[in-house]
Amino acid sequence: MSPPISPTAPPGSSVAAMRVGIPRERGRRERRVAAVPATVEFYVGHDWDVVVEAGAGTAAGFDDDAYAAAGAEIVPDAEAAHDADLVLRVGPPTIAELELVPRGAVLVSFLDPFVAVDLVEALAARRIDAVAMEAIPRTTLAQSMDALSSQSTAAGYAAVLLAAAESPRFFPMLTTAAGTIPPARVLVLGVGVAGLMAIATARRLGAVVHAYDIRPETREQVESLGAKFVEAPTQAGDESGYAKEVDEETQRRQQEILADYVADADVLVTTAQIPGRPAPLLVPEDVVARMRPGAVVVDMAAATGGNVAGSKPDEVVEVGGVRIHGPVDLPSRVATDASRMYARNLQNLVGRMITEDGTVAVDLDDDVVGPATIVRDGEVVHPRTRSAMGLEEGT
Ligand code: NAI
Repeated sequence: MSPPISPTAPPGSSVAAMRVGIPRERGRRERRVAAVPATVEFYVGHDWDVVVEAGAGTAAGFDDDAYAAAGAEIVPDAEAAHDADLVLRVGPPTIAELELVPRGAVLVSFLDPFVAVDLVEALAARRIDAVAMEAIPRTTLAQSMDALSSQSTAAGYAAVLLAAAESPRFFPMLTTAAGTIPPARVLVLGVGVAGLMAIATARRLGAVVHAYDIRPETREQVESLGAKFVEAPTQAGDESGYAKEVDEETQRRQQEILADYVADADVLVTTAQIPGRPAPLLVPEDVVARMRPGAVVVDMAAATGGNVAGSKPDEVVEVGGVRIHGPVDLPSRVATDASRMYARNLQNLVGRMITEDGTVAVDLDDDVVGPATIVRDGEVVHPRTRSAMGLEEGT
């Protein structure tokens, strides 16, 4: 382990090289990795030592030799990969993994920071400066660091391919000697980042696509992708562009109008989410019952309560011949490219954190790093995390 980071050391002083750690992810079904050889080259280019745990990239298609060729040192275990000044991960560390990270180090990862309060407490107790990828602002400035968007893009693509593989129907219209086959009908509910990618992917496969979102501005985006917007109620989002919860009457009207489209769909992909709230129920049980046998549902909101009655996270539920998937590992199903995008998001973020002396520091005044910082100098600084922990607002 190199000496503690010294942001005040003058340039050219004999501070030992900063060490960046890339552990192998051990989360269930996790296949992604936080650095790919191209981003390792970036860190090595800053004269940093990069340690990659053996096998860290294997499931994502990057072997140890590729990391070594990029200038990384391959280390044998989690202990050595977490023993670094800057630890980059995909999923949150366990408390045991966290104990391998030196006090005063910087951790950048998805951290589930508004729910995983025990982890946040442990980070603060160990004085690990923690930046959560979930909390990167959704601004133009932060776009190249927005891992929620990059991973939602991967998820939307993977959702449609899952459905296409499961569906007993062709997606495109086919005119063959054995007759004309009509195109599959795909319905996408929730047109954020994942929904847009789902529409684009289904269109490329030749399906007829209908889509709906509560935010009115999505109509134009849907139409620009060659899909048709379903005329159900819309309402403006909040000041940061996110959807707001709808009242009961609006929900009833939504469900009523969507019902005929759902019943007619060969594939239904749902992505509707409201930050910090349970996912809205868009397809109740009686509407699922109207779907044709062989229809496939991919409910991307299953982990937060589900948009479709009966969906369960990480399970496939069959109701009257309709298969309802609630996958929680969609980005990992395209792990190579999801990792490439995530690793690039991290590289761009770390690039903003580089100090004059060539190390990294968490600057609360930075417009991207600041809002994404959960713990700094042993203190929980994110207002939403503080309120989840029952602490008073902000510091
Ligand atoms: P999300 O994952 O939070 O939600 C997915 C979609 O579900 C959203 O489009 C939302 O409007 C929709 N939804 C929620 N309740 C619904 C209901 N009852 N019925 C139908 N649809 C419902 O969304 P995501 O993908 O994280 O994007 C959230 C917002 O952030 C969007 O407004 C997006 O345009 C914006 N954004 C801005 C970026 C930027 O400026 N750089 C980057 C990424 C997203």
